[in-house]
Amino acid sequence: MLAFIWTASVVGLFVWNNHLAQNQTNEMARQDAINAFNKDQALRSWATSHGGVYLEVRKNVEPSPYMEHIFERDVITDSGRLLTLVNPAAIVGQIMDEYADLYGVQGRLVSATPLNPRNEADTWEVEALGRLETGSPEVTAFTHIGDKSYYRLIRPMVATQACLKCHGFQGYEVGDVLGGVGVQVPMATYEARFATLTNGNALSHSLTWILGFIGLMAWHVRGIRGVRARQAARDELTEAYNSLEILVKERTEQLYQAKKGAEAANTAKSKFLASMSHELRTPLNAIIGFSDLMQLNLDGNLTKEQQDYIADIHFSGTHLHSLINEILELAKIESGEIRVHIDTVNARDVLSQSISANTPMLEKKNISLKNACADMDIPLLATDENRLRQIFINLISNAIKYNDQDGDVVIESQPSVENMWRFSITNTGPGIPTERQNEIFMPFHRLSENTHKIEGSGIGLTIVHQLVMRLGGDIEFSSTPGETTTFWFELPIAEENYSA
Ligand code: HEC
Repeated sequence: MLAFIWTASVVGLFVWNNHLAQNQTNEMARQDAINAFNKDQALRSWATSHGGVYLEVRKNVEPSPYMEHIFERDVITDSGRLLTLVNPAAIVGQIMDEYADLYGVQGRLVSATPLNPRNEADTWEVEALGRLETGSPEVTAFTHIGDKSYYRLIRPMVATQACLKCHGFQGYEVGDVLGGVGVQVPMATYEARFATLTNGNALSHSLTWILGFIGLMAWHVRGIRGVRARQAARDELTEAYNSLEILVKERTEQLYQAKKGAEAANTAKSKFLASMSHELRTPLNAIIGFSDLMQLNLDGNLTKEQQDYIADIHFSGTHLHSLINEILELAKIESGEIRVHIDTVNARDVLSQSISANTPMLEKKNISLKNACADMDIPLLATDENRLRQIFINLISNAIKYNDQDGDVVIESQPSVENMWRFSITNTGPGIPTERQNEIFMPFHRLSENTHKIEGSGIGLTIVHQLVMRLGGDIEFSSTPGETTTFWFELPIAEENYSA
């Protein structure tokens, strides 16, 4: 569509420019014709104003037969030279004939009823003269004479008094149209010129058209490319979006499966632990019960060696029993089966009860325990009393178990970060090797080969850790191997104490 408009515009412009060139050429021909006319007219007017001009008679200057009736047509000078009167038409005619090359465009005096038949008007001129007589100031036309084209212009020759000197006898009066001056401009040169202009025009317009067309094409192609590029980008985006969606679905599914798997594994573990505890505890109770009974040696027939074995059986059974209990406990805590009952708790009392529970062990290892909290003003805690006791007993018994013979245990207490209260239990002893400190709260963790004699499951600390977390507290430890080990934990203070 744009190409069509462009083509039409250029063609239109070309036609218009050609039209202008044509007009210009024609105007030039006309101007040349008028110039020629005026020049001749000036010459004729001048000759007329002198009533003709006397020239010496010689070849081409003959007394005019058409002026025989004129007074003093021929004059003889004193020296005997013969002069004759030459009329304006003849003067211009002679100049034209003799200096044709210089003269250029030629005009011609014509009449429908000429004195000189040479001046007889041709068909076009006769018709034009008719129009001049009826008052037209001029008649022009582009016509052919023979096979050549001409611009023709004719203007009237109106009789003045001066003209009548020679033309009066023809019956003309002042104001009559005596005839006309015709000018014929051959169009060949102008046509050649016009052709050149047209060719130039054609060339420049073609170039313009081609350039414009190329521009249009380039623009169009770019437009198409742009559209294609945009489409491609859109497609790519859609594809990316779709694949992303698929990916998200896949990942979600994988996550879901993993979660389901984890949940199933957890449930299975809990079930396994629960049933294992039950299956194990029943026969174990029999072992403990009967070995206990045998230890009494009611019949008195057991040897010392046998009694030692039975004591061993009883001890191991009891140990296994507490181990199973702890495993069960941990399983319950981890599966969220254990509930805690938050209450306002007097931690100082719970602490002293827990110390008492450990007294036999303290005495056995001759360990001195210093409770720095005994007379302290400890705020009430928002926690579960039984769980707190469990935590205390466990940490204190650990502090004794992993202590040297005749070692020390120190229990301290202090406020911690906002609304938390901290207890720390420090013991002397070998401590925890640095490389194992990061697994201290993991289940079934037992310290060093030397501790195999120490009674315990290795999951006590795991349980304590879980319980503290459950109670909204925190637990940590620090240990310098060979010197001291401190476990501290902190729990929320009961709201009643906030203002205090
Ligand atoms: C001195 C005399 C003389 C005067 C003045 C004169 N003419 Fe002529 N004219 C002639 C003669 C003679 C011819 C004819 C023959 C020729 O071509 O030699 C002629 C030719 C013509 C013709 C051409 C037709 C024809 O009859 O052959 C016209 C038209 C014409 N004259 C117009 C005029 C006009 C208009 C004036 C005044 C402005 C004028 N003449 C003044 C002598 C004169």
